[in-house]
Amino acid sequence: MNMKSLLLILMAMLSLCSCGAKQPEKQSAKPVADKSIVIYFSHAGDNYSVGIIEEGNTKLVADMISSQTGADRLEIVCNKNYDLPYGELIEVAKKEQNEGELPAYTLMLNGEKVEGKADLSTYTTAYIGGPVWWGTYPQVMFTFFKDYDLNDKTILPFTTHEGSGLGSCANDLKKAYPKATFGKSFSIYGHEVRTEEGKKSVEKWLNK
Ligand SMILES: Cc1cc2nc3c(=O)[nH]c(=O)nc-3n(C[C@H](O)[C@H](O)[C@H](O)COP(=O)(O)O)c2cc1C
Repeated sequence: MNMKSLLLILMAMLSLCSCGAKQPEKQSAKPVADKSIVIYFSHAGDNYSVGIIEEGNTKLVADMISSQTGADRLEIVCNKNYDLPYGELIEVAKKEQNEGELPAYTLMLNGEKVEGKADLSTYTTAYIGGPVWWGTYPQVMFTFFKDYDLNDKTILPFTTHEGSGLGSCANDLKKAYPKATFGKSFSIYGHEVRTEEGKKSVEKWLNK
């Protein structure tokens, strides 16, 4: 083998090596990012203690959770007309609960209507909240719980209320999702949501 062919072989080998170096690096197993979502129902309009409101109390808490944690927002909107005076709405809600009615709903993901079933498979954490209606979440939330299996998630229940605290909401969620992991629950008076103290208590809960 003369010098020229030896050089050619060496160059070919070098180019092979450099090609190898350009190959994509092996994929290292990355941990799945902790993606979270706030799932909530909230009623705007005539409210027990804060008058006529454009945004419901629970919605404001859901917004705080989302802006503090970066969580997506999934709103459960009841297809029934709840735009009623408070005195009438409580009667409607009582009847729904007594009869175990499961009202239909529409889902809004970050403000966009969800067509078909929402894909919640990528979320690891779900903050789930609503107002306390007759001691627990409004019936329409139970329609959602029946439709969506969240047993693989970490669930953090929250409520807004006017005296009942969590009511039986957290326990009812545990019954709906017995295999889920439950984090610390949170409840706040609806009339405190708009105050500085109220905002701080939401932050305090989230920082835990
Ligand atoms: C139909 C209905 C039933 C309610 N029942 C209760 C209750 O059992 N306990 C309680 O503390 N508050 C009760 N409230 C008050 C709400 O929980 C409270 O105003 C809440 O902050 C409303 O949240 P929202 O604006 O997100 O719907 C009830 C309100 C309504 C409209």
